[in-house]
Amino acid sequence: MLGFAGLATVGTGAALGGHLAYRQAAGANKTESVLRLVAPGWHTLGPAEEFPDGRGVRRMVGEVPVLVVREADDVFHVLADRCSHFSGPLSQGEVADGHVTCPWHGCVFRLSDGWNVGGPATAPQPVFATRTDGHGNLQVRLPAAG
Ligand code: FES
Repeated sequence: MLGFAGLATVGTGAALGGHLAYRQAAGANKTESVLRLVAPGWHTLGPAEEFPDGRGVRRMVGEVPVLVVREADDVFHVLADRCSHFSGPLSQGEVADGHVTCPWHGCVFRLSDGWNVGGPATAPQPVFATRTDGHGNLQVRLPAAG
């Protein structure tokens, strides 16, 4: 009888886990494709002076949308724009205190390293390295892309 109860418990757990993972995509990282879609090397986003202070704007790196936030002293943070939870547009979220809050379900990501510090996301946001070229253009590179 105990063996049958154990088998039923394991079977129910497997069915529930399979449903959550394969049908609901619960806990899936929606930014996984970013690493494959961004070409290696530096990509120009435009004149650095055109980015507003303290407000997130959306730009494209090839076919990948990114969130660009300019902070004091021309410190730039560039993250993948589609939230790792369910692809919400972070560029439409609130930027405050070095974090961005996703407008869809409230995930909070640290701008400096993309870490998910709050909300239902199970993965951090990919973060791009930044620099300005000799002409004042903001450039980004995804370190994991090469
Ligand atoms: S899509 Fe961003 S928190 Fe859910």
